[in-house]
Amino acid sequence: MDDVTLARAIHVIGVVFWIGGVAMVTTVLLPAVRRLKSAQERIKFFEEVEGRFAWQARFTTLITGLSGLYMLYSMDAWSYYRSSEYWWVSAMTALWGLFTLMLFVIEPLFLRKWFTRRAKSDPEGTFTIIQFMHIFLLILSLIVIFGAVTGAHGALFFDN
Ligand code: HEM
Repeated sequence: MDDVTLARAIHVIGVVFWIGGVAMVTTVLLPAVRRLKSAQERIKFFEEVEGRFAWQARFTTLITGLSGLYMLYSMDAWSYYRSSEYWWVSAMTALWGLFTLMLFVIEPLFLRKWFTRRAKSDPEGTFTIIQFMHIFLLILSLIVIFGAVTGAHGALFFDN
């Protein structure tokens, strides 16, 4: 097995854990919590579970990013960033940047405090915002995965 194939397999395992976790939280956990708990309890319960997932997401984001960059380095494929045919490589990198910013900077420094403060005055509305953000990120991730898998296997949506 060559190094790029190995990196690709690691890359996809990273994506499975990371986006799979986002899908699980969005489609199973959040709807269940909304039905079962009172508005105040929901935020507390969600913070505990999401807190654990955030560490897994930070680790898998790192693995996915490093393996992706390694593939570009090993294939000397930096020109993908300038080609519309490979739009999905730029999309993967942009999505990775967005999650990295959220998980490593925005959430620990600002978002967590803001949610805790806002949840005291409007727990219902705060939970709706949390749910909306997860749905948005999941849809975006699915579009990028669709583009990456079809693009990596030769499907062309935009030609140069
Ligand atoms: C720094 C960020 C990233 C870089 C540099 C990167 C780079 C790459 C590269 C070079 C490939 C192989 C392309 C080829 O075979 O020609 C690839 C494949 C792929 N990437 Fe990424 N990627 C990144 C982030 C992501 C993210 C965030 C996702 C998912 C949301 C993702 C999902 C995939 C998938 C599904 C494949 C296709 C595997 C296959 O079917 O062969 N990547 N990536």
